[in-house]
Amino acid sequence: SAQAPFVNEEFVDFTLGENRRAMQEALAEVGSQLGRGYDLVIGGRRIRTEGKIISSNPAQPKQVVGIHSKAGLEHVQLAIDAAQSAFQGWSRQTPVDRAGLLFRAATLIRERKFEFCAWLVYEVGKNWGEADADVGETIDFLEFYGREALRLAGATTPIQFPGERNQLRYLPLGVGAVIPPWNFPFAIMAGMTAAAIVCGNTVVLKPSEDAPTIAARFMSLLEEAGLPDGVVNFCPGARVEFGAALVEHPQTRFIAFTGSKAVGLQIHERAARTQPGQHFIKRTILEMGGKDSIVVDNDCDLDAAVQGVVASAFGFNGQKCSACSRVIVDAGIYDTFCDRLQAKVADIKTGNPVENAYTGPVVNEKAYKKVIGYLDIAKTEGAILNGGGAIETPEGGYYIAPTVVRDVAPTARIAQEEIFGPVLAVIRSQSFDEALAIANNTEYGLTGAIYSNSQANLDRAQNEFHVGNLYLNRKCTGAMVGAHPFGGFNMSGTDSKAGGPDYLLLFTQAQSIAEKM
Ligand code: SER
Repeated sequence: SAQAPFVNEEFVDFTLGENRRAMQEALAEVGSQLGRGYDLVIGGRRIRTEGKIISSNPAQPKQVVGIHSKAGLEHVQLAIDAAQSAFQGWSRQTPVDRAGLLFRAATLIRERKFEFCAWLVYEVGKNWGEADADVGETIDFLEFYGREALRLAGATTPIQFPGERNQLRYLPLGVGAVIPPWNFPFAIMAGMTAAAIVCGNTVVLKPSEDAPTIAARFMSLLEEAGLPDGVVNFCPGARVEFGAALVEHPQTRFIAFTGSKAVGLQIHERAARTQPGQHFIKRTILEMGGKDSIVVDNDCDLDAAVQGVVASAFGFNGQKCSACSRVIVDAGIYDTFCDRLQAKVADIKTGNPVENAYTGPVVNEKAYKKVIGYLDIAKTEGAILNGGGAIETPEGGYYIAPTVVRDVAPTARIAQEEIFGPVLAVIRSQSFDEALAIANNTEYGLTGAIYSNSQANLDRAQNEFHVGNLYLNRKCTGAMVGAHPFGGFNMSGTDSKAGGPDYLLLFTQAQSIAEKM
């Protein structure tokens, strides 16, 4: 194709005055647009409902970011019908046309990068850099999956059977449900949607109740880029009501979900139950939680390890499935490591994301209460090195101090359960064998990292550290599209490897054709 080879979008350098000014202007501009109303979009038609989902700023919960019409049970069939009828035309469009939509969307987002960053700051409390990483990853997914669709269009069988002409084609599945999370409310939402539609599927997009505004802005942008009616149907709705009915609908062919383990497992079960009138086995693409470890070996570069652990544990407040929530430190350097970690975390500034503090609030009141609950548990399971409580602000933001707990047993609750907040457990290991055993002793298997200067130990980690995304001598967050296909083992999900060469296959079914010559 005529596309240039894929490269990752560059990060914005916010140390440059011009970029800081552009961000401040975008924050002011988007600030003046907060509190607007957004409708459902079904078959290209805007539908306003009585029921509403109110999205608010976690740093200042009284500030409304967007007021969204709320899809109910009565909208499930409507949305499925719209997607089904759009499928007739969209599935027959050429891959070049479908990829073109993604490339145009990427270009528009690139032009409005600061504006999208600002929406992420207000809606989920990301700091500028975290917001930019989310927007950059969105652009990457669009550019990458567009190219992947073109590559797949050229697929063929490994050999030609003598006397035949053999073909292998990747056909779309049909109508899918896309159910994204709030923590990468742009990148993962847009990535799952883009992957589905570029293959010729049509979808019902149910954004997270915590981040519907960024999704509504993306929906409008897709329309601007030329999205045909009904290819994406935008339906914010309640998880238990609209979401469950969507998953169970007999015409829902696949479900692409990223979120908690509990909800992922429910979707898996619901999708497995065959409904009357259902003519296929539903496909589920599920990316769930993590309890991710960094192993710190006794001969490693300690400063690099401390820095990597802090970035992995406290970037966006630990609200990433990839976040480091347990650091396993060799006994020989344990006390030194704890001291340096304590000093580094003590330097973290927590405050309003609009002002670009390193850590901001957690996403909502429910998350805040959950993390506070774990802080009580933490006090009985180890010694608090940093934090340990909430930070009160006049605006009532959901702030929690970055918390480090040392001397935690590998089987302690805070070493096993996903907290999804700024809480890091430090665990002592007596040997490298024990470190690996501890690293593997959770039900999850998403990311992991090891800091070591021993080639033998790095090699052993590659063979024995059982995670979907393993990092050697670097942090365990911030997977880059194309370079680090992302997805986890065990209870972390179906290992669907977003941003990798196998991802689009999950949204297709292969047809083999043989013609006798
Ligand atoms: N892809 C993100 C990361 O690697 C997590 O979803 O941090």
